[in-house]
Amino acid sequence: MSDRTFGIVKPDAVKAGATGDILAMAEKAGLKIIGARMIHMKKEDAEGFYHVHADKGFFGELTAFMSEGPVLVFVMEGANAIKTWRDTLGATNPAEAAEGTIRKKFGTNIERNAAHGSDAPETAAFEIGYFFNGLQLFSR
Ligand code: CMP
Repeated sequence: MSDRTFGIVKPDAVKAGATGDILAMAEKAGLKIIGARMIHMKKEDAEGFYHVHADKGFFGELTAFMSEGPVLVFVMEGANAIKTWRDTLGATNPAEAAEGTIRKKFGTNIERNAAHGSDAPETAAFEIGYFFNGLQLFSR
């Protein structure tokens, strides 16, 4: 069944010039990009996006990092999109990520890990809606 997921090319990867490579890896994995734009989040924007992590010790650093520079936010559609994208990303910690995954290739550490992906359908719905409205998405 075709479903949707949400991704971010994080500030470290945008700065490193890896945006195009990361989008290409999504498309090679069979995912269609149905919406995308660049934004530079304020710290409050990142705090809202990562609200489920508000009680974690790394919340302050994570939201400072995510607002340090522009990011590319994008929406993908395809069969098992959530799992497909998470498999393409690799483990959260680049040190544990498999060869050939995005985080292994472009990540530096557990915080500066190059890209984000939704972890469940409810999370994907919230994350897509945080940045995009229906008129900005182009299902094919
Ligand atoms: P992401 O997939 O964007 O979802 C939450 C993010 O929090 C995660 O990627 C990491 O970048 C970050 N994160 C998770 N665990 C830690 C940790 N222990 N220390 C710092 N950052 C973390």
